[in-house]
Amino acid sequence: MLKNDLLLKASLGKDVERAPVWLMRQAGRVLPEYRATRAKAKNFIEFVKTPELAAEVTIQPVDILGVDAAIIFSDILVIPEAMGLPYEMIEAKGPFFPTTIKTKNDIDKLKIAQVEDLDYVIKAIQLTKKELNNRVPLIGFAGAPFTILAYMIEGSGSKTFSKAKQFLYTEPKLAHLLLQKITNSTINYLKGQVANGADIIQLFDSWAGVLSEKMFYEFSLKYMAQIAEEIGAHVPVTIFAKDAHYAIEKISQTKCNNIGLDWTINPLLAKKLSNGKTLQGNADPCLLYADDETIVNETQAMLLAFGKQNYICNLGHGLYPDIEKSKVKLFVDTVKAFTY
Ligand code: CP3
Repeated sequence: MLKNDLLLKASLGKDVERAPVWLMRQAGRVLPEYRATRAKAKNFIEFVKTPELAAEVTIQPVDILGVDAAIIFSDILVIPEAMGLPYEMIEAKGPFFPTTIKTKNDIDKLKIAQVEDLDYVIKAIQLTKKELNNRVPLIGFAGAPFTILAYMIEGSGSKTFSKAKQFLYTEPKLAHLLLQKITNSTINYLKGQVANGADIIQLFDSWAGVLSEKMFYEFSLKYMAQIAEEIGAHVPVTIFAKDAHYAIEKISQTKCNNIGLDWTINPLLAKKLSNGKTLQGNADPCLLYADDETIVNETQAMLLAFGKQNYICNLGHGLYPDIEKSKVKLFVDTVKAFTY
């Protein structure tokens, strides 16, 4: 069905003629075209809730950058909102929750999100699939339960997420209660994404790195494993736990297909630890501030280190808004032109 199924083949460990490439935050401010579409909405949340606009910016990187996959334009924070905890997106600052989770009563009041609560994302997926017309696969996503809990308790971004971590240390039972509610909501949501056309799912554990190894297994990986088990029965699943490369081996024991890597891990070491699962990553986004020659050389070195099979080329985290579009295009073109 799909004209370009490199991403799916790589996720399933099948032979590919070259590594597929896409970039986290490819639907974003690096593209002037994104900024123009975003200007049509009153604010970020209205933008996310307008399926026509969301579909438009989802497809832009496919047309403009030539990437091998689209990722649905949305945000991980739609889950807390669907559970009854709305967020705001403050320009140039980031997310903010007017109310946060503090007590058992707060957790009891949260609902388990149903796919109907997120119908605007489902509509965006349907529109995107139609307009993509099977050119490339569509990636669906959700935040990892721990990262979602971190925002629900902290109320905003944070360097340390110490309030959220305080909750894990002082109220571990409540933390598990909340994590299970988020997990159940996320499974409902992701099943809806898959039923409406998402070809692969990525879990973003953006704040895994604030946890100790032990706490990562107890409060994060356990719940991502549940999601991988449920969703992996239908489509490939990628687990991206930023700054938790010590956990590659344990992540590889879940039902995920792909393991996302940030730039702090050596590709050869990651390959040794991953039990033959497909790896995704891991160029430093700041590489794209370098001159063209450096970008080409470093990208080619990365491609050689990971090898052609069981590999999805990406950055180690999202694109920064001030990276030049031409540099992003150079990265993508370098991957597509590389001969092994
Ligand atoms: O292209 C894509 O990757 C798809 C779209 C996408 C967005 N957010 C759009 C967005 C995805 C996959 C996300 C996930 C997301 N959102 C994560 C996990 C990934 C990661 O980066 O670790 C997190 C932690 C969030 C929460 C969030 N949303 C933050 C902290 C911010 C503000 C940061 C900033 O760069 O301003 C957002 C806003 C956001 N989500 C933007 C985009 C394109 C920028 C907002 C804008 O257009 O003004």
